[in-house]
Amino acid sequence: MREQLNTLYKELIHKNEVEGLAFLAEQFPNEIVFSTSFGLEDQAITHLILDNKLPISIFTLDTGRLFNETYSVWESTNERYNTFITPYYPETKRIEKYVETNGPLSFYRSVELRKECCHIRKVEPLTRALKGKKVWITGLRADQSNARKDLPILEWDDTYQLFKYNPLLHWTLADTQAFIKAHNIPYNVLHDKGFVSIGCAPCTRAIKEGEDFRAGRWWWESNSKKECGLHEHK
Ligand code: ADX
Ligand code: SF4
Repeated sequence: MREQLNTLYKELIHKNEVEGLAFLAEQFPNEIVFSTSFGLEDQAITHLILDNKLPISIFTLDTGRLFNETYSVWESTNERYNTFITPYYPETKRIEKYVETNGPLSFYRSVELRKECCHIRKVEPLTRALKGKKVWITGLRADQSNARKDLPILEWDDTYQLFKYNPLLHWTLADTQAFIKAHNIPYNVLHDKGFVSIGCAPCTRAIKEGEDFRAGRWWWESNSKKECGLHEHK
């Protein structure tokens, strides 16, 4: 695996984002997927994929607790690119049991309950979405958080046993905003109201000037890693 990772990595560092996506799509036909949360970075990647007609399927994890604004950008993305983004949902029985036992706002009570909610609503559906795939594309950027600052553009994900490609890793927020504007790409209007990193509605809020990029996620938790388990970096 290490050898293949090195070979692919050496190819990718000489390519721009579109070339990198096209290269991996060619190397791994039908085994490459992109996960979108409809955030700014993900909208840029969706544009790169669909505008260039790259054979990469796109899915989203609909937790059932997303903002209406997120559903709106999903809808306008389908319309703009004449496409359908594949949704994955939490397992009905598990989420029914969890909410019945713990109530609809349990995530505010403890980190454990919050992580369990994230696991049922995001991690388990992600595991299904990535099953049988060899490459997972994400919109992670290095300057989003401390945990992300040293990531490579291509890594081996031990949890999901696949390559993870982060094509926008070295883009800044300003680069991303400029790209969205230049190509008139639909984006989540919450970004204009101080929201930078957007997840589930009850667990995301706008940040104030000078606050950390991820300060609006699970803001009531002071000591947790502020990750939902999709991207665990040890
Ligand atoms: S999270 O781990 O805190 O939720 P973040 O919001 O920063 O992640 O998004 C990072 C990347 O994770 C996105 O670019 C996207 O690839 C993936 N991602 C996050 N949330 C979702 C979601 N609901 N559906 C699909 N992909 C997602
Ligand atoms: Fe549940 Fe909040 Fe995690 Fe969404 S972000 S899955 S609502 S705990």
